[in-house]
Amino acid sequence: MTKFVHSYYKSLSTLVCVLATAIGCSNESKFDKGMLEAKTSPQLNAARAENEKSFESQRNYTREQLEKALRVVSSTLINRDPTTAELESLSRGLSGYEDTIKAYFNDPGFKTVQMAYYRSIFEMQGTDQGVNYDEPSNLALYLITNDISFQEIIRADYCVNNNLEKTGCTSFGNDANVARAQAAGALTTQAFMRKWSASFNFKRVAKSFKVFACSEYPDSTDAGLTEQQVADSIKDFNCTTCTPACYSCHRSMNSKAALFYNFNQLGVYSTNTTNTTVTDTGAASNIGHVLKTGVRPQYHGREMQTVREYALLLTQNKKFRDCLAQRLTNYMMGREPYAPLLPQFQNVRDNVSFNDFKVKSILLEVAKHPAFVLR
Ligand code: HEC
Repeated sequence: MTKFVHSYYKSLSTLVCVLATAIGCSNESKFDKGMLEAKTSPQLNAARAENEKSFESQRNYTREQLEKALRVVSSTLINRDPTTAELESLSRGLSGYEDTIKAYFNDPGFKTVQMAYYRSIFEMQGTDQGVNYDEPSNLALYLITNDISFQEIIRADYCVNNNLEKTGCTSFGNDANVARAQAAGALTTQAFMRKWSASFNFKRVAKSFKVFACSEYPDSTDAGLTEQQVADSIKDFNCTTCTPACYSCHRSMNSKAALFYNFNQLGVYSTNTTNTTVTDTGAASNIGHVLKTGVRPQYHGREMQTVREYALLLTQNKKFRDCLAQRLTNYMMGREPYAPLLPQFQNVRDNVSFNDFKVKSILLEVAKHPAFVLR
């Protein structure tokens, strides 16, 4: 019941924000931190019904408003102006608008535009020295066009080639069994691992937090390890009196860094964790350089042993959900990918799991949102 009321309250407050175009509508609450709670299907249905009700206002859009919005949608999604026939569909009001946008999702231009977007998000593209740097974007495109939950972006145990077909992953020597136990979608592609390999694996850790959680360290939501658990053998990662206080970021970063020791500098999985990574002076590094002996990597107090386990936990964290809503609303609004979520779109964020993390459904929700259409 609490959640139900909460979501209704959020929808109302969103409308108020839209009407008042007020600032300071951001009401981050305790609900927005930490792990997502599982929702039962009656709760989901109730929330869906509530959303329908609160979006009754959408039925009152004028043809002029819809036309203005459709011009933005078509240039954003498929990089062209609407055709006369598409504009004519708006005589059917919101349903014509919605049908036209759904047709855009099947336009070849949609793939082209999405591919360019993900290449820029992942900061890589093309092939170099046998590594396909398009693999992370290929996976994103595969999930989007096939209407698969975007959680798979770091859950998939397969890779996707340039024809958008499932393949094995070179990071696992194309071995499907190893991938099933170790793979974390785009995160464990050879491209991602190789591009961001650096001393102690911190770059891999920082990039994955940026791209999949839209966040930078320190992670204020994760207390991380104690000072006694964080290593200080080569670098004072647990130092609290240094400037900057290394421990504040490294207490949660070092756990993840330890997991990445299973991937060598070439981005290939290895069971040997001693010669895969280097220190900041280029010497061979081992997990003991980031964690004290016997310390188990953990995230939000949960122990984990593989990058895959970390990725699964991350997809259940609100940061992952919030990041998806943030990126997609910013995309539709023509803003920088990691700009803060506009407060008017809070319910888009709250609805990510109702939309089953499907990108097209979320994009459509933004396109129909009063804060988009009436901006
Ligand atoms: C605000 C968070 C933060 C604080 C505070 C911080 N670090 Fe880091 N550290 C990072 C991040 C993020 C990276 C990865 C940087 C990148 O993307 O290349 C990193 C990377 C490193 C690296 C690897 C650098 C390399 O050459 O690749 C070392 C060594 C390091 N930190 C040591 C320290 C020490 C020692 C302190 C305290 C004096 C400290 N850090 C404080 C966040 C932090």
